[in-house]
Amino acid sequence: MSAAADHPYWMPFTANRDFSRKPRIITGAAGHWYTRPDGTRLYDTFSGLWTSGVGHCHPRIVAAVQEQVATLDYCITFQVTNDKALALAERVTAMAPQGFSHCFFTNSGSESVDTALKIALGYHRARGEGHRTRLIGREKGYHGVNFGGMSVGGMVPNRKAFSAALLPGVDHLRHTLDIERNAFSRGLPKYGIELAEDLERLCLLHDGSNIAAVIVEPVPGSAGIIPPPPGYLERLREICDKHGILLIFDEVIAAFGRLGEPFGATRFGVTPDIITTAKGLTNGVVPMGAVLVRDEIHDAFMNGPAYMIELFHGYTYSGHPVAAAAGLATMDVYEEEGIFEQARGLETFFEDLLHSFADHPHVIDVRNFGLMGAIELAPREGAPGVRGFEIHKHCFWEENLVIRNGMDLLQFSPFLNSDRDEMEKSFAAVRRALDAVD
Ligand SMILES: Cc1ncc(COP(=O)(O)O)c(C=O)c1O
Repeated sequence: MSAAADHPYWMPFTANRDFSRKPRIITGAAGHWYTRPDGTRLYDTFSGLWTSGVGHCHPRIVAAVQEQVATLDYCITFQVTNDKALALAERVTAMAPQGFSHCFFTNSGSESVDTALKIALGYHRARGEGHRTRLIGREKGYHGVNFGGMSVGGMVPNRKAFSAALLPGVDHLRHTLDIERNAFSRGLPKYGIELAEDLERLCLLHDGSNIAAVIVEPVPGSAGIIPPPPGYLERLREICDKHGILLIFDEVIAAFGRLGEPFGATRFGVTPDIITTAKGLTNGVVPMGAVLVRDEIHDAFMNGPAYMIELFHGYTYSGHPVAAAAGLATMDVYEEEGIFEQARGLETFFEDLLHSFADHPHVIDVRNFGLMGAIELAPREGAPGVRGFEIHKHCFWEENLVIRNGMDLLQFSPFLNSDRDEMEKSFAAVRRALDAVD
């Protein structure tokens, strides 16, 4: 593609006009590196988009996809399925906390979230509690961009233009980001457990019996890596139990090793009722998500005559054989290469690298948990977001480094099998970029 003033591709979450002036294009990848059209290699500090934890073009996954696409490229997914989807459901549920024996396949995190919300409503109705319709999200939550996920989500720019079309009957807990009290925390921040009581307050306001589900990311990612205060998730679980509310963990980022465990639920030792996943399910190679549900929830749908469809929901590509083959190969890599253990082993090293930025004049906070990390920059006077964006572009062109910025927040999602030397060099490059940009 030429660097034309305009181009036909309307890119997602992109400053399209700025992009057109000097397009940032990637044409290849291998392991931890991308390549530009001129052959320059760029180090990927974000593992794709939280997706590609074992590295790009992993030979095992490439081979599985190539074989599958030449064997069964697609098959009807309603009332019929394929061997790979069945096998992947077994693999994924085998890794899940006790009592999650079923999963539903989707094609993205957004679809996983909307599927989970619909399952929650359907579950209550199937048990004769159809009055439980209210959904609770959290400020600064990100649950994708479909109508359900957008409505329970709490990132203002993602909601603003669509305000009139948000789902009714949705409330939000306050977020737990508290830079004043918790700045530069390593891992879980000390303060903020009392914010879990927001859920109790909403139960008092609406009566808990009207609330269907609460959805939270165990560690909010897109809004800026906000690890929960110790005991916060446990307290949400307690309040949900007290009022019969389902707890949904949106683990689109957290699942499959990002927190050094199969799931955030297993890392925190807090078991939700529904877990949404995507990204790491296939290492990002083919789009796919999975929604895992506790047995009691699944079983509540399994009533009525057996010839009847139990859940009127699904996608043409649910359980797509090529995606499922990628998922199976990904699970093999996770197991055989000890990927989650490798990720866990990198946590302290990653934390030290991130916190070495605490002394930089641009930096107002550093946050991390597992292999999720953020460096928050002070916004430039009168121009919020510009400093972060300039650093992103400087890294791409001058340092051959892909980093993600959300406004003035630099986010990091290292590979689960990162090489320490590469990590160290990439953070040295980030520091040079911070020094170079005003
Ligand atoms: C927690 C969470 N939920 C949902 C989504 C949406 O996933 P997708 O972009 O695949 O629709 C994301 C994407 O980053 C996410 O981080």
